Amino acid sequence: MGYLEQLEKDYNEYLIECRSAMRITLAKLENLREHLEHTNDRIIFDNVESRIKTFDSAVNKCRRKNYEHVTKKGLMKREITRDDFTIDTIRTHMQDIAGVRITTVFQDDIYFIYEAIKKTDMIISHTDDYIVKPKKNGYRSLHIILMVRISTNDGAKLVPVEVQIRDKAMDLWAAMDHIIRYKNPNPSPDAEQKFLELSETLCKFDESVISLRDFDTNNLISFSTKSPE
Ligand code: GTP
Ligand code: MG
Repeated sequence: MGYLEQLEKDYNEYLIECRSAMRITLAKLENLREHLEHTNDRIIFDNVESRIKTFDSAVNKCRRKNYEHVTKKGLMKREITRDDFTIDTIRTHMQDIAGVRITTVFQDDIYFIYEAIKKTDMIISHTDDYIVKPKKNGYRSLHIILMVRISTNDGAKLVPVEVQIRDKAMDLWAAMDHIIRYKNPNPSPDAEQKFLELSETLCKFDESVISLRDFDTNNLISFSTKSPE
């Protein structure tokens, strides 16, 4: 069997664990959503979606990031080559093979959900707050890595799942940026600057809608309605 064929076979086996971790995460988030929305009598989660990274995308990311390679002697920083890049590299360095994205309508609900997750039995191993500190291109989102305990025929294992939480404005920006700049090998030279400006505009938009919402608490009735009337 060739090197890449073997790696893909190992990756597909690892995906069984990732899918397991993903199902557990989605079930826990769905339970949390029902409790939170019932208690607060309003919609808090706008949408929840999930994806598993394809083999090609995982390999490309490992090559792009030039991850440290795991050897028997310990961790060594060196270029990943055809011969030394293994499933252990992926297991050790990639925490977003299983990914979940939660969107909210309002920016403050991102932190409402985050605080609620912290009170559950879900284990957060890492948080990147790109809202308080956006990326220099203007990307905003809250990223958390959950370590999910799964059962396998080799016993219990912890598998990472990346959860991105952002509001609809941040999500619209990211979707457009993803197509036009992030994944585009030849983006327009002004794309980065324009997306930064758009991000700043949407940041102001997010702040304005929250102050409009909070202007009169009677308005709460209009956004607590669970289905369109
Ligand atoms: P990636 O190689 O981009 O996965 O980076 P990372 O795993 O080191 O972590 P990071 O937190 O930077 O990004 C994780 C994920 O967030 C990415 O896979 C994208 O889904 C999203 N993301 C991060 N930066 C950007 C960005 O500038 N634009 C868009 N559209 N998405 C981004
Ligand atoms: Mg990532």
